[in-house]
Amino acid sequence: MSARPKTKLAMRPLLPADVPLLAEIFRASVKETGADDYSEAQLEAWASAVEDEDEFGTRLARELALVATLDGTAIGFAVLADNARIDMLYVHPAATGQGVGAMLCDALEKLAAARGACELSVDASDGARGFFERRGFAAKTRNTVALGGEWLANTTMVKSLAATSAATAGRSAS
Ligand SMILES: CC(C)(COP(=O)(O)OP(=O)(O)OC[C@H]1O[C@@H](n2cnc3c(N)ncnc32)[C@H](O)[C@@H]1OP(=O)(O)O)[C@@H](O)C(=O)NCCC(=O)NCCS
Repeated sequence: MSARPKTKLAMRPLLPADVPLLAEIFRASVKETGADDYSEAQLEAWASAVEDEDEFGTRLARELALVATLDGTAIGFAVLADNARIDMLYVHPAATGQGVGAMLCDALEKLAAARGACELSVDASDGARGFFERRGFAAKTRNTVALGGEWLANTTMVKSLAATSAATAGRSAS
């Protein structure tokens, strides 16, 4: 009996060639993971945010984007804006529940703390609220945003990075 090959989860910075696959991950993630909380029309409007892949690529390149890979293939990504805001965090629905989101979010928390942010915020979709709550983010405001002719609700959530900053400083001092 042959042993099942081990899969390897890793993370790296964005490469320009990633953009079409990340757009695909975004669309799949929105449509499958968001289906319980939003209508079909709302999901279409949300997914249309990456319709223009050139614009999406420019947005990713402008900010700090990390790509999660499984055996070398991109399966998720996260974007840090202004060193203090999670602009995007998307995991392909076929790869959820394996620690990919946690790995990416961990990295953004550490990067934001290392760059001097006291807090990290995110406008969390309704389905992702529980994920951020588990990580110590607290809900602050409920928002309704206009997107592609639809209104979508999300929640601004904030996490203090004091503990993360102390750990980062401790490591660099030792
Ligand atoms: C939310 C999302 C990023 C989670 O990614 P993931 O790779 O499945 O998360 P992980 O496997 O790392 O989960 C880490 C922990 O959070 C829990 N968790 C994951 N998703 C959760 C959810 N929606 N609600 C509550 N808990 C959740 C997991 O059970 C796990 O718990 P454990 O540490 O006790 O085992 C992913 O489902 C996604 O891409 N959602 C759609 C896009 C989205 O809404 N993104 C946020 C907007 S910025």
